[in-house]
Amino acid sequence: MKVNKAIFPVAGLGTRFLPATKAQPKEMLPVVDKPLIQYAVEEAYAAGIREMIFVTGRHKRPIEDHFDMTFELEIALEQAGKKELLEVVRSVKPDDMECIYVRQSQALGLGHAVLCGQRLIGNEPFAVLLADDLMVGTPPVLKQMVDQYSEWRASILAVQEVPAEHTRRYGIVAGTPVTDALMDVNRIVEKPAPEQAPSRLGVAGRYILTPGVFHEIANQPRGVGGEIQLTDGIAGLLRREKVFAYRYDGKRYDCGSKEGFLQANVELALAHPELGAEFRAYLKTLEL
Ligand code: UTP
Repeated sequence: MKVNKAIFPVAGLGTRFLPATKAQPKEMLPVVDKPLIQYAVEEAYAAGIREMIFVTGRHKRPIEDHFDMTFELEIALEQAGKKELLEVVRSVKPDDMECIYVRQSQALGLGHAVLCGQRLIGNEPFAVLLADDLMVGTPPVLKQMVDQYSEWRASILAVQEVPAEHTRRYGIVAGTPVTDALMDVNRIVEKPAPEQAPSRLGVAGRYILTPGVFHEIANQPRGVGGEIQLTDGIAGLLRREKVFAYRYDGKRYDCGSKEGFLQANVELALAHPELGAEFRAYLKTLEL
């Protein structure tokens, strides 16, 4: 079965980005000229996904508005003959893309957020994208994963090597290599201390999961930090089904942290077709 649906958990509190996230979701923070959530939605669209499910919290309005039609703005741009800008605005939500919103009334953890999408997903494989991990890759990282899914028909987790001192920030996996880029996972641990980490392969915010994971999430006790963890659900899943870890080809910016967010802004501005050259010249004038 094809991967047709994606869950975007956007109900976290975003405490690392206060005060910017006091009254808006961190997924609406812009990198250069686009909010983080739009990068993730475009990545899912490029992977052939058309049904986007947002698990929202208190601050859902800005995300709903962003993917809705902005009638007054479109009329104003049309009347002013600003065709290119009109195209920019309209392309945020292509006609064949559907956006659905479901509420997570309490931020009980990423696993719980994914569970909120269960009824909308039904009995199909699905993707999960954490928009605060901004991924740049060719082909786009989720497309690479969908291709892996078509071949293996099992859950696929995006992984990358992380420094030993950072294992506490990630779910860490271990297993048996299948190909250069793929590993058959036999263990996954949420945020282990470096000395307890089974490897240095950390899970990035892209997953393709089989629907069996819902039952596993629902049956796990609270995990690290008292949260209902997606990692624990995946740990349950891999006792019943194959789960693969895929070393994606691309770069990840951790835009949930200030450093990663700033790096993404600088690097994407340098790569921007209109801004890049001038911005590079500007950076050179700084005495660093
Ligand atoms: P994070 O671990 O980054 O948590 O969540 P957070 O609350 O967003 O941010 P900090 O750590 O307080 O700064 C990873 C992803 O899971 C979502 C978040 O929105 C983010 O995309 N999430 C997390 C939920 O949707 N619900 C939750 O209960 C927890």
